[in-house]
Amino acid sequence: MSATSIGVVPRLSRLAGTVRVPGDKSISHRYAMLAAIADGVSRLDGYAPGADCAATLACLERLGARVERATTTAVGSADRAVTIEGCGLRGFRAPAAPLDAANSGTSMRLLAGLLAAHPFTTVIAGDESLSRRPMRRIIDPLTRMGAGFDAIDDRPPLTIRGGDLRGITFSPDVPSAQVKSAVLFAGLHASGHTTVVEPTPTRDHTERALHAFGVRLNVTQRSITVAGGQRLHGIDAVIPGDFSSAVFWLVLAAGTPDADVLITDVGLNPSRIGALDVLRRAGARIDVAHAADESAGEPFGSLRVRFDNPRPFEVVPSEVPSMIDEIPALAALAAMQPGVSMTVRGASELRVKESDRIARLAEGFRALGARVVEYPDGFTIEGGPLPGGNPDAAGDHRLAMAFAIAGTRAVGRVAIAGAGAVAVSYPGFFDELERLARS
Ligand code: S3P
Repeated sequence: MSATSIGVVPRLSRLAGTVRVPGDKSISHRYAMLAAIADGVSRLDGYAPGADCAATLACLERLGARVERATTTAVGSADRAVTIEGCGLRGFRAPAAPLDAANSGTSMRLLAGLLAAHPFTTVIAGDESLSRRPMRRIIDPLTRMGAGFDAIDDRPPLTIRGGDLRGITFSPDVPSAQVKSAVLFAGLHASGHTTVVEPTPTRDHTERALHAFGVRLNVTQRSITVAGGQRLHGIDAVIPGDFSSAVFWLVLAAGTPDADVLITDVGLNPSRIGALDVLRRAGARIDVAHAADESAGEPFGSLRVRFDNPRPFEVVPSEVPSMIDEIPALAALAAMQPGVSMTVRGASELRVKESDRIARLAEGFRALGARVVEYPDGFTIEGGPLPGGNPDAAGDHRLAMAFAIAGTRAVGRVAIAGAGAVAVSYPGFFDELERLARS
């Protein structure tokens, strides 16, 4: 499916089955980058199969890491097993040409943290969507640490002049795991200590990953401190399924009468699963079963979700960071059900994601027949019965999937323009939807 293709949404007669989602995108990026600066070899099973994590691997190869890819045969997924031979701390070589982060903000921002510490100049660019995304949030702290940057109006392409860094204490203006991670990655290479004080806690995959690769951190409720100069060792790890992909099946089941779906081997990191509380408030029945083990400090398990008693629901500002990527899916839950509405506030960060996720989400759900009121920092959406229509994914993978899920309950035909964008995080999404529709 190309990015410009049309996704036709199947009708569901009943919904029951088991799903395994692709490996976690956030964890895959982090493991790949840390493996590339570690000493020795890392074996990463279940590496996310989407284009974003492929972009990270391609960038790391250009910087000197040796990467081998193999496809695993895990049920229902095309995950990759990736082996990376690290370059050691500060061991990257200058790339001959600009690096391409494609659609991936995580690749660009986290790699910037590593490149800030290498004594050469790197240019890192991205696609049209990434070229609109704000980089001041990483330029400021990394400049304070000693790196130099050029950017066009604080947007990519970024030119990074790396060098000797010094540790800082930094408190980001926006809750952002990408900013936290870029600063901690730079701090690993800096003199002294680097501390990030978070306004609101964000996903803690970086802290868990650093620990797994042998780095000592001091973590308090609001701050993380790393001492520079610590060397990393390679790891063998299994990457759990991506909760941000699983949420589309959770919503599909929560919004389909009589549905009963089991999602296996999915990441259950507490900093990522805030959407479970919202789904329960919205009337879904969800059972969580944690696996006995964790993999490299990341908890995982299975989720059973059943349709129960749909209700209107709200997301309040303090909850937003724990479900920032799940909001398009939650909007689909409101859109697809008569009598259900959703309001979210305090989510202006959605405007600087892969698309303006407030404006484009409102446009797309309106095209399906839902009523949407936009605010600067959120929206209210009221749902079905949806007549159907042709929403535009606007190049945004999560919007393509959200429109498809809501579209399964539309009365008329639903065809999504730009549905191929799902390849960014979930290349097999439409095949899995077809499979469930036939089950
Ligand atoms: C991510 C952090 C979040 C999230 C993105 C992935 C990460 O972005 O939206 O999809 O892997 O660190 P912000 O850090 O900008 O909130």
